[in-house]
Amino acid sequence: MATPSDLPNQQWTSNLTGTSSLTLRTVPLPLPLPSCLGPDEVLVKIHSVSLNFKDAETVNGQFTHHKSISLPDEIVPCSDAAGSIFRIGAQVRRWQVGDRVLSVGVPDFWTGVLTEELLRGGIGASGKGVLCQYRVFKDYALVPTPAYMSDDEACTLQVAGTTAWMAMNGLRPLGHPGGQGETVLLQGTGGVSMQGLLIAKASGAEVIITSSSDRKLAQAKALGADHIINYKTTPAWDEEILRLTHGRGVDLIFENGGALTTVKSFNALKMGGTIVGIGYVSGKIDPPDERVNINVMVIKKNATYKGLINGPRERLDEMLAFYEKHQLRPVIDRVFAFEDAKAAFAYLESGGHFGKIIIKVA
Ligand SMILES: NC(=O)c1ccc[n+]([C@@H]2O[C@H](COP(=O)([O-])OP(=O)(O)OC[C@H]3O[C@@H](n4cnc5c(N)ncnc54)[C@H](OP(=O)(O)O)[C@@H]3O)[C@@H](O)[C@H]2O)c1
Repeated sequence: MATPSDLPNQQWTSNLTGTSSLTLRTVPLPLPLPSCLGPDEVLVKIHSVSLNFKDAETVNGQFTHHKSISLPDEIVPCSDAAGSIFRIGAQVRRWQVGDRVLSVGVPDFWTGVLTEELLRGGIGASGKGVLCQYRVFKDYALVPTPAYMSDDEACTLQVAGTTAWMAMNGLRPLGHPGGQGETVLLQGTGGVSMQGLLIAKASGAEVIITSSSDRKLAQAKALGADHIINYKTTPAWDEEILRLTHGRGVDLIFENGGALTTVKSFNALKMGGTIVGIGYVSGKIDPPDERVNINVMVIKKNATYKGLINGPRERLDEMLAFYEKHQLRPVIDRVFAFEDAKAAFAYLESGGHFGKIIIKVA
């Protein structure tokens, strides 16, 4: 086994001026191990990291809408990692060396409603991220990797998986996932949507998915999507959804789009339906000519419009049990080498991906 002094401990850093600012640095490990670890800390060897939209946003200095997240001048990006326990602190009982683990984005968020204080403790923005070869975690800031999944698959679960799970089930009682008899709209074919497709289909829902690409729509269809709409060639995709649902509208919408999609989402929603506000891939500022008072839209559809920031640990556990029960396998587009992290970020920003982009660390 390698001794700690043999370990080339490298990490990617960014000064938040864009993906070209990503720099690979060598940093010392806490030595000597394990006595340099706190009694409740573990050193994890990172194997795989998945990219999320927010990671590019953070590196570009644009992740600025949470008042509790203040970014340091230089960050280690990314929050989703799969790894294995390399060393444990003196009082650690949860883990043994070699256990496979996943990082948890907001480690102190166990149940209930997220607070600004909890959010401040998140990793990959205000807190050190996981795009590194080794990282120290509190022993409770990890969950076991599903045994049937590879590290590349499992490292996609924490942000994209939990967000999709919360969009489907966050308004339902814990332990009572829904979906049966419902029609769900997923916007785009990125990370959250593809986890949503897996979850919604395994839940018995009918799924409508939109994309800018016919190729990606064909891939989504092959994965079980019931209806596909190209939002570029069918800009009135909301009317198409009303046609597909015989004028009724959909029960639940993963609102990933933001500026260019929200008004249309309300049109495509059934009376009494739910829109889950997840993202803003089409922009954060509404076009002035499309501005409709949101209260009017909510009232008109007697809608529930629920904002979402990932989910608590109890929901992550619930989701992991669901994936295991249905043997779901996250959709991976491409795997990049650790040295090619810049190219992985550029690919994320190009929007060419279908599902998740992985960086293979070791
Ligand atoms: N609230 C939370 O807790 C949370 C958690 C995770 C992510 N998010 C947010 O959710 C959004 C998606 O994240 P992600 O990681 O899944 O992103 P991603 O993997 O980068 O996916 C982006 C996809 O969005 C689609 N898209 C772009 N413009 C669109 C439009 N006008 N209409 C419909 N789809 C459009 C594109 O799909 P096509 O190429 O198929 O057109 C693109 O591939 C981001 O805004 C992110 O910040 C929020």
